[in-house]
Amino acid sequence: MCGIVGVLGNGPVAGQLVEALKRLEYRGYDSAGVATLEQGRITRVRASGKLKNLEEKLALHPLAGAIGIGHTRWATHGKPTELNAHPHAGAKVAVVHNGIIENFRELREELQARGASFASETDSEVVAHLVAEGLARGEAPSTAVASALRRLKGAFALAFLFEGEEDLLIGARRGSPLAVGWGNEGVYLGSDALALAPFAHTISYLDEGDWVVLRRVEVQFHDADDKRVDRRRQPLLAGSFLVDKGNFRHFMAKEIHEQPEVVGRTLAHYLDLAEGVVNLPFDFGFDPKSLSRITISACGTAFYAGLAARYWLERFAHLSVDIDIASEFRYRDPPLLENGLMVVVSQSGETADTLAALRYARAQGQHTLAIVNVETSTIARESELVAKTLAGPEIGVASTKAFTCQLIVFACLAIALGRARNVLSIEQERELVSQLIAAPAQMAETLSDERQVETVARDVARAESVLYLGRGPAFPLAMEGALKLKELSYIHAEGYAAGELKHGPIALIDYAMPVIVLAPPDASLEKTVSNLQEVAARGGHLILIGSRTAHTAAAAPLAGFIELSEQVSGPFAIVVYAVIIQLLAYHVAVFMGKDVDQPRNLAKSVTVE
Ligand code: M6R
Repeated sequence: MCGIVGVLGNGPVAGQLVEALKRLEYRGYDSAGVATLEQGRITRVRASGKLKNLEEKLALHPLAGAIGIGHTRWATHGKPTELNAHPHAGAKVAVVHNGIIENFRELREELQARGASFASETDSEVVAHLVAEGLARGEAPSTAVASALRRLKGAFALAFLFEGEEDLLIGARRGSPLAVGWGNEGVYLGSDALALAPFAHTISYLDEGDWVVLRRVEVQFHDADDKRVDRRRQPLLAGSFLVDKGNFRHFMAKEIHEQPEVVGRTLAHYLDLAEGVVNLPFDFGFDPKSLSRITISACGTAFYAGLAARYWLERFAHLSVDIDIASEFRYRDPPLLENGLMVVVSQSGETADTLAALRYARAQGQHTLAIVNVETSTIARESELVAKTLAGPEIGVASTKAFTCQLIVFACLAIALGRARNVLSIEQERELVSQLIAAPAQMAETLSDERQVETVARDVARAESVLYLGRGPAFPLAMEGALKLKELSYIHAEGYAAGELKHGPIALIDYAMPVIVLAPPDASLEKTVSNLQEVAARGGHLILIGSRTAHTAAAAPLAGFIELSEQVSGPFAIVVYAVIIQLLAYHVAVFMGKDVDQPRNLAKSVTVE
């Protein structure tokens, strides 16, 4: 994952830039670069590989500028070469970027048609040229940035440096984090508090959609509508930054809001974004065509990720999938077919039952693949293949960002297997991948309207029991929604397949029990709506989570409606819908005054049976 820094200092800043970049090394990177102003002109030094290569270059060509930006690049579009390393430059502007510009292809063609010439294969360079065009039209740097931001689709953080502007940096945040720091020797921009900790005594985090103009004596924040806003300035306490809550009251809230960033990062790891296809970072070591079956085992939230994946693996790769919770699987003595693949899923990589399931499968001669968030964990070490989720440390006991990253890894795996087994054509693969690439921006958009979730949460907080309904991949999400509610608010909740309603749970329907219906615009929408109407016909307390189309089709009295964009559709819509069920559980728990980050009786890592 890329890291961004910016320094407006009183003396040469190259050393501080590199020091801050070193503090972002933990995010992973494969090239790096800095740019400063030398007598008003942008001078860049970039290097592929580790920061020591950049330092060696800087030793040969020292930069004297008192203002600059720096970047560690984790390659997504284009190889980790010096030419693709950031900062990227257009006329009179340089930019560093973290995230994905989804519409970079069309922007690149458009800019080229107007005469722009590109020096790299990156998506990021389009941003430099867009801003350069604004400057060439005579716009002030802030106006040029604001108009460029309006053209960009995707999830990203950006920092800009301008020729001839010795007292100006501009930063922007949409989906990826960015913070401003104030120190005794300057003002700073950075991807996180860790980068700024040695230099800054106070820090402000940009809110989603914000952009910020930094000068030595004044920092001006603007919201997504370009209005001037204030952002809380808080002390940056030494030692606290590793487990920093940012602007959030709870780690869980922070982790929910990190999802556009970490899902984007995970996608970048499993996709060739430039080609719009899956590119798994490992070889199977066996012929996917010869696979007899996939068996999935996990616990809790990770198990629900596996349940959702079953729909994708069966549909896109035509593979039979057997799935069970690990505590049952390990004692069932299940016969496992030759040439089968066992997939275990775990955030911590230490869950005792999941580890036992993995060991059982290995003993049975299965191929093994572990989807884990902690790469150094026991499960990762003991599995033949490891597919990491790049969610970063998850502190909140309730799993949120690890879950959506698990879904992303599974989606990529299903597409890769589908292609390898000649089930999917290249066109079908590209179409599915384009739906996945849209997820981070859709998540960011969904997160920007939290008030509608809060309104429904006030209502749900009064309930003693809640029923979640969904079909297809939204059925496991219904169970995950119920689990989140139980864990955080201690309200009894159950997730059911909507089609099962009339086989029992319909007896529970009354106006006291909220029935939350997940209705993404997918192939089963019509049937889900019929189930919703069955609840309505019995005077049920209905809450709909869906698009305007679902709302219109429902044509029933609703106690609550959480609207998502019509664009959030298709087989992977649940990746974005997950954000809503997490936010809902979070706000219910907050209203009820519960301990959100450490719910009673729960442990983050369950290393015992
Ligand atoms: O670390 P793991 O993913 O293996 O943990 C599995 C479950 O314990 C975990 O998902 C648990 O259900 C969470 N508290 C869910 O929020």
